[in-house]
Parts: sequence; structure tokens; C-alpha cells
Amino acid sequence: MTFNIALVGCGGMGRRHAHGYIELRKYFDTVSLAAVCDVHHDVATTVADEVGAATGSRPDIYTDFEKMLESADLDGVAIVTSTPMHHRFAIQAMQAGLHVITEKPMGLTLKACRLMREASRSTGKVMAVAENYRRDPMNRLTRQLIDAGAIGTPYFALDMSVGSSGGAVMHSTVWRAQKNQAGGMVLDAGVHNADMLLYLMGPADTVFAETSIFEQERTLRPMSEVAPGLAAMYDHRKEDGYATGDLVEQTAVDTAFGVIRFRSGAIGQLSMTDTSHGQSLGVSTVSGSTGTLFRPRSRSGQSPRIVRKDGVEITGDALLDLVPGFQLDEITSSLWNGARRISSYDLDFRTIDSKILAYEYLDMVNAAETGGQPEVGPREGMDALALAYALMESGASGSTVTVDDVAEGRTSDFQDDIDREMGI
Ligand SMILES: NC(=O)c1ccc[n+]([C@@H]2O[C@H](COP(=O)([O-])OP(=O)(O)OC[C@H]3O[C@@H](n4cnc5c(N)ncnc54)[C@H](O)[C@@H]3O)[C@@H](O)[C@H]2O)c1
Repeated sequence: MTFNIALVGCGGMGRRHAHGYIELRKYFDTVSLAAVCDVHHDVATTVADEVGAATGSRPDIYTDFEKMLESADLDGVAIVTSTPMHHRFAIQAMQAGLHVITEKPMGLTLKACRLMREASRSTGKVMAVAENYRRDPMNRLTRQLIDAGAIGTPYFALDMSVGSSGGAVMHSTVWRAQKNQAGGMVLDAGVHNADMLLYLMGPADTVFAETSIFEQERTLRPMSEVAPGLAAMYDHRKEDGYATGDLVEQTAVDTAFGVIRFRSGAIGQLSMTDTSHGQSLGVSTVSGSTGTLFRPRSRSGQSPRIVRKDGVEITGDALLDLVPGFQLDEITSSLWNGARRISSYDLDFRTIDSKILAYEYLDMVNAAETGGQPEVGPREGMDALALAYALMESGASGSTVTVDDVAEGRTSDFQDDIDREMGI
């Protein structure tokens, strides 16, 4: 049976989803992209044409989500609009009997996520989150190494993304500058870092953070200058009401330095900013009682690296000796051309990105067809967002916050005005 899916939101990430679908079709014929939807007809057309040219079957084009729900023959939707629409579209889709996969962050606020979780429970429909970093085979290997005790008992994790936007709006997308659109590096990108920390270190208990908006005025610059590697994915999108060179007010937090206490007793440092001019620094390590693990950049294909306390360095295939039970699951293995036990791989970013997106669709469809849970469902999606928002809540209040309180709405001051504005 073919699972008919619609892609909603055909901007930069939507186009990457289309490429993920094209990759999926090289290996599996169980999913069909039946429709694409974007408020901009020409943006949706670019994506539909690409899919049609690559697969021989062009999806139908819609500009109105509700009309699409009424007339298209669908089993599920992939929601890849900017973040404010995620919860509304997900809930409408589930209530219409469809399964859902939504881009990260799962919703605009934790309250929006709780409504999505409730809709999934009451309708019995899958609510999956397209959190991609953890699905990278090198992150699977990293997790296995930690679980197998390759660095002993984990003491602490450092995750520092310190770079410079050069005063530009992140990803040349105005919504990313706005607090009420879940903008800013700490939420929009930090939710990936949060998910990876939880994936590797287990549940987080408390967070204390200092946050700031250092650059309250930014310039809208072309994506070719801001993020050249992704520019080709974004060249068809529209930015209504703004032109290159316009000044944009940044209301979203652009800098957060947080300290996390994990339930295991381990400590984490999550520091993110795009205001570090003249100095970039990326640190992703986990240190334990017998050594330190250096995490590779997600989707680089590079091997993790361990430096033991006796100074011996282990990387590449030698790591596989430490994890005799490590092997990629069947879907990943199929997408990675049959690989089962690998310690690195050599593929270009677009291919890696597409394979991971293909995996996410297949994971969601598998959950829908077996009545199971997707790997990243409401629990995992909310945990990652709650950790990212915990930095915001703590930064705003000056107090240590409990991540569960953020997830379940007992701590929400920072988010309350966004919820009020959304009417939820
Ligand atoms: N997983 C990742 O690595 C990753 C990377 C980038 C973006 N994202 C996420 O993907 C989502 C989209 O980000 P993006 O960079 O593509 O943004 P974008 O602004 O380029 O694209 C959003 C698209 O949604 C469309 N849209 C807006 N309102 C709509 C509506 N009511 N109906 C239909 N379409 C509508 C817009 O016209 C636009 O084309 C965000 O939630 C973002 O956080 C994830």
C-alpha cells in the first residue's frame, strides 16, 4: 500500500524535504508525495516541478491548507512552514484523520506542543518531529560509544556554538529574528543541540542561563552571503514586505549561555550565539571518567574521536572494536547503500541531508502502519524544546528552572505573551 503524503511549506526546508522524498524514492516505493502546499503558488510550483522531474510524478499544488485537506487523498502531512503554523496545521490534520510529521521545533511554545500531544492522543494519529541530527549514522555511533562505556561514566558535556552572523538576519528569513515566531539561534538551531544533548546524556533536570539580545537591529542580506552552502535551497522563497538591505528589528534572544544538570548527575554547558565577531568556536565534547569523546559535526560524515586518559587517541574503524553490538537499523542501512557498521562516510551535504529526511518519513510511516511510536514523537520533541526554552525562561527570570516545569507549563513567563498572541 502506498502512503500518500502532502508537503506544507515549500520554502528552504520544504525544498530540502522534497529532495529527501526524491532520495527516498530511489530505495522505496511505499510513500508518494501527492501534494505540495505553500501560500506562494510559484514557490510551491518550483518544488512540485523538481519532484516531478526527478520521480516522473508531479504532486498537485495547493495554496490553501484547509482546501488541500478537503480535496486531496492523503494519509499524512509533513509540516514545514515557519514555526508559528506547526501546531494549528498539525491539530487540524490529525482531526481530519491524517498522520503528521512536523519540522522542529515541534511547536512555537510548549503550550502549543501540549495541544499537539493531546490531539495525537485523542485521535490516535502519529505526531512525529523531523529532528534530524540524531539520525546521522555518526551520532548513532557516538551514542553507542557512550552507552558502551567507551569514556567511562559521563561527567559533563560541552556544546558551544559561538559564531557570527555579521549583523545579518539569520538565514535571511525575517521570522527568525522575531521572538513571537520562535526565532533566534537559541531556539531555531539550539533545539537541535538540545535534542542531541538529551539523546547522548539522558533527561535533563535543571537549567540556569544568562541570555541577551546583543544585536537588536539586523540587516536582511542575501542567503548567498549569509549561508552560502544552503543558498540554492532558498533562492525560490519569498520574503513578503521586505527587500535585501532592509533593517529588521531582532526581538529574539541571540545569545544564551546555559548550565544544565542532567538527571544522571552529569553537567552540561549549552552556549549559543551568532554575535561573536572575529571569533568562531565550536565545541562538542562529552568527558567521562576514562576519557573525552569529540563529537563530529552532524551530517559531515566524520568519525567521532576519543582521547583516553592515558593519552591514546581512538578514531575511525578502531572505534568499532569498542561497540561490537553497533549496527545501523535496516532503514538507515538501506539508505546508506547497505552499510551496517561504519565509522565514517564520504557523501556531500545535500545527499546526507536528503537521506536523513528520507529516514524521517519512513520512520513516521512505519509508526502509522504498525500503530507504534515514531523515534521522535511528542515526548522527545517537547523535551528538546523545553530544554531550549528553559534557557530562555531562566535567562528572563534569573532563576534556575526545572525542565519538566517548562515542558508541562508550570514555568512559562517567557512564553506567556506568545501564547496570548496566538490565542491559546
Ligand atoms: N531540521 C532542520 O535542519 C531545519 C533547517 C531549517 C529549517 N527548519 C525548520 O523548518 C521550518 C521552515 O523553515 P524554512 O527555513 O524553510 O522557512 P521558510 O520561511 O524558508 O519557509 C517557510 C514556508 O512556509 C510557507 N508558509 C507560510 N505560511 C503558510 C501557510 N499558512 N500555508 C502554507 N505555507 C505557508 C512560506 O510561504 C514559506 O515558503 C521551520 O520550522 C524551521 O525551524 C529545520
